[in-house]
Amino acid sequence: MSKFYITTPIYYPSGSPHIGHCYTTVACDAVARYKRAKGFDVLFLTGTDEHGQKIEDKATEAGLAPQAYADKIVNEFKKLWTFMNISYDRFVRTTDDYHIQTVQYVFEELYKRGYIYKSQYTGKYCKPCESFWTDSQLVNGKCPDCGRDVVETAEEAYFFKLSAFADKLQKLLESGNFLEPESRVKEMVNNFIKPGLADTCVSRTSFKWGVPVNFDEKHVVYVWIDALSNYISALGYHNDTYQDYEKFWPADVHVMAKEIVRFHSLVWPAMLMALDIPLPKKLYAHGWITMGDKKMSKSLGNVVDPFVLGERYGVDALRYEILREMPYAGDSVFVSELFLQRINTDLANNLGNLVSRTVSMVNKYFSGTLPQTRKADAIDTDLINFVKDIPAQVEEKINSMHLSDALEVIFNLISRANKYIDETMPWSLAKDENAKDRLATVLYNLLETIRISAILLEPFMPNTMPEVLHRIGANDDEKTWDSTYNFGTLHQDVTVNMGTALFPRINIEEEQKFLNPSGE
Ligand code: MSP
Repeated sequence: MSKFYITTPIYYPSGSPHIGHCYTTVACDAVARYKRAKGFDVLFLTGTDEHGQKIEDKATEAGLAPQAYADKIVNEFKKLWTFMNISYDRFVRTTDDYHIQTVQYVFEELYKRGYIYKSQYTGKYCKPCESFWTDSQLVNGKCPDCGRDVVETAEEAYFFKLSAFADKLQKLLESGNFLEPESRVKEMVNNFIKPGLADTCVSRTSFKWGVPVNFDEKHVVYVWIDALSNYISALGYHNDTYQDYEKFWPADVHVMAKEIVRFHSLVWPAMLMALDIPLPKKLYAHGWITMGDKKMSKSLGNVVDPFVLGERYGVDALRYEILREMPYAGDSVFVSELFLQRINTDLANNLGNLVSRTVSMVNKYFSGTLPQTRKADAIDTDLINFVKDIPAQVEEKINSMHLSDALEVIFNLISRANKYIDETMPWSLAKDENAKDRLATVLYNLLETIRISAILLEPFMPNTMPEVLHRIGANDDEKTWDSTYNFGTLHQDVTVNMGTALFPRINIEEEQKFLNPSGE
């Protein structure tokens, strides 16, 4: 069986998770579910990045020890992933003993191999971003990532010889499809490699909340070596907790947003090259979910709280919205009105109505069970040919991380099926006693199209699609991914099941008031 290893970044437990964090995790979940449906042996990893000064400071603010503070927020992340129906296989915490064991090995090994050396650090440090910057990288003297003030810092520190890998990294990045989208490659090469790749500071003495350097206990490992090692510590690389390194490494894809591409496409491959470890096969960097020009934060309340949104409109609607809105290479803006409109147009009207109309017609005209007799018509061929191309198109889109496009392809199919209802007018066929065979054929073709759509949508909307497949009476062997390639798989004398609305229509005006009580 082929393996597939997919990872999210490990999140900082520095505050409660919001819908921004959900994007990467839901995207990886959809891909992981798709790969499992295709028969891959999948390992889907997520986790938390708990060390560093920022967490230490947050804990102090909250009057807690760093570990107790991290435990509390990590629980919120885990609760959110359960709520969002995230099928992760493993959750790594950088405070887990096995992870610490791996990090200490990695750090010492890099030192022994001459890729880490002791020196003096002077530079500009952005505390909230935990990033060091050279003067030329600053924008108007401020942190280029967040725009906040940076502080001049000088201390003894270990450095990683990133500069030694400049040529190899440039070759790797320009070699084709290691890092996608393509625009990120240019950004890395032009902004970081070409101006001269500086060695990077990998230890600190100014705070204690980190993995101790085991041969020089005054130092703790500075977060990025600690954080990036999660992708191999969680497989058991130089620790005794897991034994999956041989099987799952290299990763098939590391998924992240654009602001941490620098670490994943420069520091991480350089660390792996220095350790003689194979490189991940692909990095995919998506954009950000933003709130217009507002930064996502607690003060935006309901609008960005995934628990509130998921509870009120359904987790699948929320998953659909964030995946559908995010373009392959750009950012997406979360606009609550658009979210509500999408629920009505795509989910309630297009998909929900198709299922409920079809199921109720089978119920009404055939008491719930289709007869076996059929009568085809030329008009069917058009629909069937349309359906036939869809699964391969969807697979191509998912495999290249074009998730919004994959959804678009499936929803085009759903629209096509609704058009087929208008073309065939089953209600008028029902009036003609001699057209029963034809009516059964039309309804069967609709059920088949729904079956295929639901299987293709299941990785994205794993709560609702099993219910759709139940409504249309599909048997277990009619729910497999491969069966989407065979139009006509559903048994001919299928019995449907009625049910309540899958995606109830919502009153947009009222809901807007609920989401934005202050009317901003
Ligand atoms: N701890 C580091 C990552 C280490 S990985 C070895 C970190 N953590 S983070 O909590 O800041 O998470 C950043 C990641 O969360 C982004 O790269 C992205 O995957 C996700 N997102 C957080 N906010 C987001 C948006 N507003 N929009 C899209 N993704 C966002 O960086």
